[in-house]
Amino acid sequence: MSTPASTKASTIRVDLAGRGYDIAIGPGLIDRAGELSRPLLAAPRVIVVSDQTVAPLYGARLAASFDKAGVRTTSITVPAGESSKEFGAFGRLMNELLDRRPDRKTTLVALGGGVVGDLAGFAAAVLLRGVDFIQVPTTLLAQVDSSVGGKTGINTRHGKNLVGAFYQPRLVLADTDVLDTLPKRELLAGYAEVAKYGLIDMPEFFAWCEKNGAAVLSGDAAKRTYAIEQSCLAKARIVAADERETTDLRALLNLGHTFGHALEAETGFGPDLLHGEAVGAGMAMAFDLSARLGLCPADDALRVRRHLGAVGLPVRLRSIGGDNRRQWDANRLIDHMRGDKKAEGGKLAFILTRGIGKTFVSREVDERTLRGLLDDAIAA
Ligand code: NAD
Ligand code: GLY
Repeated sequence: MSTPASTKASTIRVDLAGRGYDIAIGPGLIDRAGELSRPLLAAPRVIVVSDQTVAPLYGARLAASFDKAGVRTTSITVPAGESSKEFGAFGRLMNELLDRRPDRKTTLVALGGGVVGDLAGFAAAVLLRGVDFIQVPTTLLAQVDSSVGGKTGINTRHGKNLVGAFYQPRLVLADTDVLDTLPKRELLAGYAEVAKYGLIDMPEFFAWCEKNGAAVLSGDAAKRTYAIEQSCLAKARIVAADERETTDLRALLNLGHTFGHALEAETGFGPDLLHGEAVGAGMAMAFDLSARLGLCPADDALRVRRHLGAVGLPVRLRSIGGDNRRQWDANRLIDHMRGDKKAEGGKLAFILTRGIGKTFVSREVDERTLRGLLDDAIAA
């Protein structure tokens, strides 16, 4: 990681032959977007895609920055939230993009959280059979995970992110200042993805999180930046080694997701449970399952549950859904798991672990143990 002397931003490289790109992390980057992007643009024309919450907060500053760099900007705003990743919404966006008469040298800029990044990234992958795009992630989750690595996509009635493309951005600009306007709950959801990297294969980083997680969440700028940098370094390393998830390496980034997706599906991918919250609860369950299978020390599973719970993530099923106490059902959760993209030939896939930082992919979990774990989690 290099730190340019003239700014406080640091740069991490995602090393992909011919398609590598930088992730810039630091304060004030929205105001430098024009200057930093200009050398990468095929032509000085961008279309900014944002959502109705983020556009009023940061759209004008981003446009002014492009304007200053001599880049012509138009913008499109979509409703905030997961509904913008539906097929219909995607179709409307494609037509709105075409209304602006882009050409193959036009670059799309995704200004927003993971929803906008996934949506605009997929639009870029298919608009005129592919135009460049830049990610300007504005949630913690997007800065540490979704804006990096080129997974783009939309949802279908069969499940989330089932239509999409691996399509890498040309640049990621993670402006750490924008996290100041992010609601606390969204920040916390993104923090689950930060802790995830420690749990996957960086045990020292998880120990750092245990010590510093509260400071990251309460706004300590240096610690927040360090957490984002470490997360992006981890993600860049994994993506460079297994861009298209052809070995099981990139699949490790799905720690907690088999459980998490089932919980999200059951709660309707709505406000009762945010994606990052589902990942947090799912990681606690993946460690519990590993401990139950005799793979992982029970103490490690306890540490995970304790830390995620201590920062305020909902790790117990009964704490999900606020006042609308949910009737969880193990069979329904297992049914949802069958739709997971990692499942192969009907076998459920889990990221299990031999301890903190020692994860691996397993398709050998017997359903009785799984059901027992779910029943206990529901009863707890
Ligand atoms: P999001 O994009 O819905 O953003 C959460 C909310 O915060 C939205 O209401 C948004 O308008 C608001 N917001 C965003 N930035 C803000 C800011 N700076 N200040 C105030 N409000 C702000 O949600 P998310 O958690 O960022 O992303 C979730 C999505 O990411 C899901 O669709 C998930 O599938 C996807 N995802 C993709 C990947 C990937 O690798 N592509 C990885 C993880 C998650
Ligand atoms: N968020 C999982 C991945 O990028 O592979």
